[in-house]
Amino acid sequence: MTAQDKISRYSPEFDVAVRGDTITADRYITREWMELENKHLWPKVWHLGGVLADLEEEGDFIRHNFGKESVVMVRQADGGVKAFYNTCPHRGNRLVLGDVGSAPRLTCGYHGWQFDPDGTLVHVQDPDDFAGGNPCGKVTLSELRCDTWGPFVFWCMDDDVAPLHEWLWPYTERLAGYKLDNWVRVLNVSADCDFNWKIIRDNFNESYHLPTIHPELATFINDGLPTTVFEMYENGHNAMWMIGHQATSRKDYVSGDVPPGLYEAAEAWGIDPKEYRGRTADIREAVIKAKRERGAEAGYDYSTMTDQQLVDYFHCTLFPNLTITMSPEQCQILRTEPHPTDPEKCVFQHWCLYPPNAKMAEVVTPVGPAPLRHDAIHRHSVYGDGVSLGFVADQDLSIGTTQQQGLNSRGFKGCLLPGQEKRVQRFHEKLNDMVLGHPTKARE
Ligand code: FES
Ligand SMILES: [Fe+2]
Repeated sequence: MTAQDKISRYSPEFDVAVRGDTITADRYITREWMELENKHLWPKVWHLGGVLADLEEEGDFIRHNFGKESVVMVRQADGGVKAFYNTCPHRGNRLVLGDVGSAPRLTCGYHGWQFDPDGTLVHVQDPDDFAGGNPCGKVTLSELRCDTWGPFVFWCMDDDVAPLHEWLWPYTERLAGYKLDNWVRVLNVSADCDFNWKIIRDNFNESYHLPTIHPELATFINDGLPTTVFEMYENGHNAMWMIGHQATSRKDYVSGDVPPGLYEAAEAWGIDPKEYRGRTADIREAVIKAKRERGAEAGYDYSTMTDQQLVDYFHCTLFPNLTITMSPEQCQILRTEPHPTDPEKCVFQHWCLYPPNAKMAEVVTPVGPAPLRHDAIHRHSVYGDGVSLGFVADQDLSIGTTQQQGLNSRGFKGCLLPGQEKRVQRFHEKLNDMVLGHPTKARE
């Protein structure tokens, strides 16, 4: 057994061997890498385009700008959703310029061509002036794959990628108990950031930074290695199941008073934290019991969730750039997307969805309280301008720019990872396979 095996927390059935490829700096800083990703990576995965709540009626649409690309998803007469590239077949003007909207026809702002929600061209100026005759009814918008899961709409540029529900494996199954279908996106914030999109992907692929970047989480999430389960899947996704409602085992929080954070979490379920002095780890079980007994009274439906789901945090990282962090009362979507032209910039997005709850008019989001309604908080900012993207997300983003700067140094020789960061290693090896088509040399 190697030293790495000894400290590995990967569940044996969901472990993937890694080769030790060097995680090179060029992938974070060069245009060549960015172009290779545009060619070999982004077309080969499903992208989360938006939420169905924005697509209630026929003709409702959402636009998703992604790097240099832009995609429009439109609700159809038959209730389905279609996705189109946001480009006019006439001379290429972008058709849709807003994030969300509704119109019986999509109309190009240049020469006024009009398209039905199913993408068919239905109106042009001077229809008789075309050599092949009136193009209406013959020309259509360029369509791409589109599918839905729970409250989400996804699109994909490539016909060979597995169908969405297969691609999402194992999360369709693993997250079924949360019954996400009717959850409401309350928080929808994003920001332009000065670092490559993979900087934050790496961050979400490890929990090694928790004690240093998020010290306050340690009082109610047990990030200690012995209890955290990591899983990696062949398809590139990975997960981390972290014990919640329990303080970290990295320090002795058990034998003394109940630390803040955990104290409040206990009180929220009518548990007297003072009774747990000297045995703070037992609060988790008490919360499970309280949620089972009093969940319905509080307006929650916990009936299909496992005990673990009631109290723990399930972080699902979908290859390459989407993270879904689940608790029974909140679904967080955290994502970075590439800048259209600059490899040293990205867009960070943070959504939070909440289960509908007749007893609650308001929820506490990572940026503060908000009414429990669709997109109650919706804004875009520039990171560093002092607009919060959520307390914990702000902490994660705080290292982005300095890491980007450090990666530009001639002195950086490639990442040097502990065993618990194996998901970061795996991510880059999968990336090497897709983007470069071969491994990078092992780190010396
Ligand atoms: S480019 Fe769209 S109508 Fe001319
Ligand atoms: Fe973090």
